[in-house]
Amino acid sequence: MNILAPSMLSADFGNLDSNLKHVIRAGADVIHVDVMDGNFVPNISFGPPVIKYVKKAVPDARLDVHAMILDPIRYLDVLTKFGIWGLTIHVEATNHIKEDLAAIKAAGIRAGVAISPDTPVSSIYDLMDMVDMVLVMSVYPGFGGQSFIEGTYDRIRAVKEKAAERGLELDIQVDGGVTLNNLEDVLDAGANVIVAGSAIFGENIDKNVNDFKNIMNR
Ligand code: DX5
Ligand code: ZN
Repeated sequence: MNILAPSMLSADFGNLDSNLKHVIRAGADVIHVDVMDGNFVPNISFGPPVIKYVKKAVPDARLDVHAMILDPIRYLDVLTKFGIWGLTIHVEATNHIKEDLAAIKAAGIRAGVAISPDTPVSSIYDLMDMVDMVLVMSVYPGFGGQSFIEGTYDRIRAVKEKAAERGLELDIQVDGGVTLNNLEDVLDAGANVIVAGSAIFGENIDKNVNDFKNIMNR
C-alpha cells in the first residue's frame, strides 16, 4: 500500500497547529517528523517537547519519526510514551544498530532503518529482516527543499530486489526532493512510503496532497 507522509519540517512553525490539522484533513495519513541534533546533521530542528505537542494537535495521525541524531535510542522511551507510530534510525548514527532496532521492536512500535546517499545499500541487507521499513535517503539529510539525487532509483530497486529475494514484506520509504515531477519514477522504482515536505506545505496544501494522492492511487 502506498502511504503519503508529509514532512512537517516544511510546515509554517508559526502556524504549526493549523498546518498539521490541514494536511491531515486534506487526506494525508501520516506525519513525517524530522528530528535533527546539529551533530549527525548540521541542522537542528525540534525534539520531544514539540513531538508531544504534535501528537496533541493531531491525535489520530500516525507519527513517523525520522531520527537524524547520534545514538538515537536514548530517546526511544520518551517517544514511545507519546504514542508514535514508528521510529527510523540511521545505520550511520549508532555503533549498535542491531540492538537498537531490536529495542524499537520490543517497545512495540515500527522500526525503520535509514541510509544516507553515500552509504552502500549493502550495509542494511542484514538488517532487513529486523525492520518494518527501509528509508532510502534521496538527499543528504539535514534540510528540506533540496534536489532529488538521481542515483536513488537504483538504490531503491536494490532494496526492493533484496527484499523480494528474501520473501520480506517491508515498506520502502524515500525522503528528500520528491515532487510531482519524479513521484511516478520513485513509485516505479519500488518505494511505497513517500515523504514530501516543500512539495506539500505552503499555499496549496489541499491541492498538493490531492495531486500526490492521485498519482499514488493509480
Ligand atoms: C531531510 C528530511 C526530509 C525533508 C524533506 O533531511 O529528512 O524529510 O524534510 O523535505 P523535501 O521534501 O522538501 O525535500
Ligand atoms: Zn526525513
